[in-house]
Parts: sequence; C-alpha cells; structure tokens
Amino acid sequence: MARRRERRGEPSQDRRKDRVGPATREEKLNDSDASERKLIGIFILFFIIIPAVSVLVYVYKYGSGTKRLEPVITERGPIKTDINFQEILTENTNVAGNESQRNYDYPVLAYITPWNSKGYEMAKRFNSKFTHLSPVWYDLKSHGNSLILEGRHNADKGWISELRMRGNALILPRIVLEAFPTELLKKKKQMDKAIDLMVTECKEMEYDGIVLESWSRWAAYGVLHNPDLRNMALKFIKQLGHALHSVASTRNPKQQLQLVYVVGPPHSDALQQHDFGPADLQSLSGSVDGFSLMTYDFSGPNNPGPNAPLNWIRFTLRLLLGSTGNNAQRLAPKIFLGINFYGNDFILSEGSGGAGAILGRDYLSLLENHRPQLQWEKNSGEHFFVYFDDNNVRHAVFYPSLMSIYMRLEEARFWGTGISIWEIGQGLDYFFDLL
Ligand SMILES: *[C@@H]1O[C@H](CO)[C@@H](O)[C@H](O)[C@H]1NC(C)=O
Repeated sequence: MARRRERRGEPSQDRRKDRVGPATREEKLNDSDASERKLIGIFILFFIIIPAVSVLVYVYKYGSGTKRLEPVITERGPIKTDINFQEILTENTNVAGNESQRNYDYPVLAYITPWNSKGYEMAKRFNSKFTHLSPVWYDLKSHGNSLILEGRHNADKGWISELRMRGNALILPRIVLEAFPTELLKKKKQMDKAIDLMVTECKEMEYDGIVLESWSRWAAYGVLHNPDLRNMALKFIKQLGHALHSVASTRNPKQQLQLVYVVGPPHSDALQQHDFGPADLQSLSGSVDGFSLMTYDFSGPNNPGPNAPLNWIRFTLRLLLGSTGNNAQRLAPKIFLGINFYGNDFILSEGSGGAGAILGRDYLSLLENHRPQLQWEKNSGEHFFVYFDDNNVRHAVFYPSLMSIYMRLEEARFWGTGISIWEIGQGLDYFFDLL
C-alpha cells in the first residue's frame, strides 16, 4: 500500500494502459458505444451487472444518503454540492481566509513528499494550520546482516528552520520499515539496533519524533498471520515508543520525542488477522502518540469509484473505536483520520489512454480541456465527472472538492479525532482555507 502511495506522487509513471475496469455506479445509466458483438456479453457483465450489484452491495453495506445537501455557509462563502468546472478553475487559487487562522482545534498532520515540491511551500505558507508535519524522507533497510537508516540526504535543514521560525508544528519525518521483518522481530539485537538508529537520527537532526510505517509491510510478508510474530511486532512498536518517550526533544526539553504509527483500514467488515483492529489500537495506545489512519484508496483501477466514501470512513471509525463509550472518547483524539488531496482518473471503457492517480494540476487541466459536468455522489460524499479522451475512451475522475473535504473535516470533529492529509502538495490552494 505504501508503495502504491509513493508512486502516486508521479502519476505519469503510474499510467495503466491496458486496463478495462467495470463502470462506476452511475455508468449503468449511460449508453455505451461498444460495437463488436463478441464484446456484448463482457460488456453486459462489466457495465451493467457488476455495477448494478455493486450499487446494491454498497447501499446495503454503507447505507444510502438520500438527504439533499444544502450549501454550507462558511467564512469563505457557501460550499455547495452543485458546482461547475468554471467555478473551480476561477476560484481554486483564491484563499479567502486568514492563512494563519485555524477552523478546527484538533490535531492536523500533513505529509510532504520530496518528489512533489509544492508540499514544502504549502507547509511554510499554511504553517499555523498544522500541528504535525511529516516529510516522507526515510527507509530503514536490511544491509547484509545489519540495518541502515537511509534518507538523510532528503532532509532539508533550511526548510526545517524556516518552519520553526514561523510556527510550532512538530516535525516527525516518516520512516518506512523496509528491513526484512522476521530477522528484525526475532533477533533482539536487530530490534534494539533498529530502535537505536531511529532515536539517534531524531537526536542528531533535532526532530520531534517520527511517523513509522510498517504494518502494511509486515502484512505483505505474512508476519501478521503468525500469532507469535504478530506479538513480537506489537512489542517492537511499544519498545520503540518507550525509547522515543525516554528522550527529551532538543528544542523543547519539556517535550518527549513522539511516535505516530501508520495504520490501514480493515480489508473487510469481518476483521482479518492481519488487519489492524480495535484490540491493537487499545494495546498500543499507551506507547504510541497518534495513529495515522489511511482512510483512502477504497477504489482502484479494477473497481473504479470514490476514493474515500464517507460511509466507509464511518464504518472504519466505528469498527476501531466502537460506536460510543469511554473507550472511543479516550482513543479518538489519537487518531489522525486520513484525507486524500489527490484524485483518480479511471478508464471505464476499453482502449488505451492514461489513467491513475492525479494531482491538483492534472485535475485543473482536465477541467480546462474537457469542460465536464460535475456530479455529486451522495453515498460517498464525493464529486466526480465523466469524460472521453482523444481516443474516445471513457474516463471517470474522482478528485476532492471543497464540499467533500468539508464533510470529512466535520466527520473528524464529530468523532473527536484529528486528521492527516496525504499529501499537501497534491491539493488545490483553496482546500487549505477549510483547515
Ligand atoms: C490572522 O490570524 C492570526 C491567528 O489567529 C492572528 O494573529 C492575525 O492577527 C490574523 N491576521 C489578520 C490580518 O486578521
């Protein structure tokens, strides 16, 4: 999952040329232009039956929102579901509010990637809107029988000191644990070495802690399917948390170094052994300062659709936190609910053409070139549009809008969580007005 996310920074390299995906739920309403007879059977399956079934499953599982959304009046003006491409093109650079003023008091973690430099600018410009900044800089790797922490060459000290002059956001670089996990988890020496490398880097570079991503790797290696290794994995995270907490920040001696841990949403509503579940949340909550919850990538090239359906976000939070009670109140503030600032351009009909993750600038050029009609998808709480490319191949584009982001920010407030944004260089400027 992390690998996919990383590629997302360079969508042009992520083009999927030969994919024929089933249609989105809306597609079943449209006529298709398939002409070859032998394709008709496939066509019916892909474009009618599968979408029809997925609507049913989707509505059944996540409920349907039939309530019409009224415009929300905010300081930057009304936020609506009924928008057109022209409004987005003219308004996206218009940041109406005070760039230092926050609209929410919960924690806001922003990811920044070195391959998309706009994120560095946004972090400076909207500095006071963030409480945690996580530049995606490090990998902890196996190196023969030992371990190395790679990525210091990415660290930009000038940028860090500018940020620190302007605001108080904690700087917690992300580290991906690439190291071969069974070695790491079974050998105490390796475990200690890994922890030491990370703590030492924080001290030497004067970071406020780290964001660690390892769960998806461990799941991929099968580590989490083995109960003993799974326990070792949890133990490793706890030990790392305690090691970081035992060190005072160089900048602010009253503050300990922090650990934010990245977790993915469960793969289905029946929790699997390799899923990060409520018991894990509970078990780690004493050693981890925050959980960056990746509530996005719900859809993919093989099942085009919304990136982060709101009902699915609710389902995930309910699963992790329980529906009510003290537990939720205690644990919710540690969760950084994931919000995507990227979108997807999916191919819906057979043919060639680019498809994959898109950034704000890609979205704007699609709007300019195709002047599409934007539609609001009630169930997911996302905007999308359909267009035909130069080869007459049909695409569906899902990209965040003011309304979709606003609804997710409010959702976080409702649950008492914070938010995390992947990643701030991929959005449109006026999104930051809402934070
Ligand atoms: C913007 O917000 C900050 C923080 O609340 C405040 O200190 C500053 O005076 C505001 N600036 C303007 C121009 O209102």
